[in-house]
Amino acid sequence: MITKHRETTRPLAPHRSREHFLPFARPLIEEDEITAVVETIRSGWLTMGPKTHEFERAFADRIGSTHAIAVNSATAALHLALEAIGLQPGDEVITTPYTFAATAAVVRYFDARPVLVDVRPDDLNIDPERIEDAITGRTRAIMPVHIAGQPCAMDEIVAVAARHGLRVIEDAAHALPTRYCGRTIGTIGDMTAFSFYATKNLTTGEGGMVTTENAQLAERIRLMRLHGISKDAWKRYTAEGSWFYEIEAPGYKYNMTDVAATIGLCQLAKLDAMTARRAAIAARYTAAFTACDALETPWVNPDGEHAWHLYLLRLHLDALPLDRAEVITELTARNIGTSVHFIPLHLHPYYRDREGYEPSAFPVAYAEYRRVISLPIYAAMTDQDADDVIDAVLDVVQLGRR
Ligand SMILES: Cc1ncc(COP(=O)(O)O)c(C=O)c1O
Repeated sequence: MITKHRETTRPLAPHRSREHFLPFARPLIEEDEITAVVETIRSGWLTMGPKTHEFERAFADRIGSTHAIAVNSATAALHLALEAIGLQPGDEVITTPYTFAATAAVVRYFDARPVLVDVRPDDLNIDPERIEDAITGRTRAIMPVHIAGQPCAMDEIVAVAARHGLRVIEDAAHALPTRYCGRTIGTIGDMTAFSFYATKNLTTGEGGMVTTENAQLAERIRLMRLHGISKDAWKRYTAEGSWFYEIEAPGYKYNMTDVAATIGLCQLAKLDAMTARRAAIAARYTAAFTACDALETPWVNPDGEHAWHLYLLRLHLDALPLDRAEVITELTARNIGTSVHFIPLHLHPYYRDREGYEPSAFPVAYAEYRRVISLPIYAAMTDQDADDVIDAVLDVVQLGRR
């Protein structure tokens, strides 16, 4: 199935295009980040220390969470969250096929089983109506993924989790800052994992954060992110620290560095401005594409505030002479970078072969994946960049119709 979509096609009509390639994603790194990082490097304290702690406090304040624990990726954040609930081999965790590799891989780290539940066609988030049927005696947690930065139906998810005594661990890699019914994502589930990967709404190069209201879970995550050695071990090399430490568990090396946290602090200060810019680009796209019968613009949930990490444009393939791969090839020929989010987990050899999945096992995820394209959307884009994307998309969908 995936092999088929790997086929490359030659562009049909590479004609008017922008002069330089517009990458699919690019971080907004300005002089403030550069100056601050230089200062941190000059300070001599490179790894986890005062800047990481300052970033954790500032992040918790921004989200409105009690605890924020900085780590080196969202993958680490999700792994530590599952470790903190004591996930065991053979346990089950409910999530969706419409996500990135990391969401399910962390479950497999424990020799536990990711149990996939199909998504809703409107927002591509887990369908809360289907969760109950997937719960068994081995289910320990639900991991909703806020795809593209749009909130999942958290009231329904939290209610079903409460009825069955399950934990809710949110994959909010895309969802900063996302709001749901007046609450900020990061304050609803038992734990929430954020990503600060280079393409994310806030970047530290690589990085992640866990937020939680639960002091016990926070303490376990703090312990396990740095070798499982006793609290504040990072202070060992300061005047206030002590040489003494104890290993309490076989922990991981998942801590954030102060260099990364310094970038994060600068990014956090402009998060609202960066989000507004993403939202403006999304509005520009939607206004331009709404009238085109070959295109379906993203549905926006009125109960939430979208972080616009991704702009997922869906094609009405029956109204187009091109397939999705050809549309991507044509856009590339017009110097527009795109991507596809996501190839559903059940199509990948590892999960397909393990569970014997057919593509139709999750019909909504499969059908929507086949017609979705992610367009460039990031704070470093200009209006002209967005207009170039619009021109290229409208030009491509007219191909063969002329
Ligand atoms: C939905 C989702 N979850 C988790 C991750 C993992 O994030 P990280 O690269 O910070 O480990 C990503 C990364 O793209 C993602 O898209």
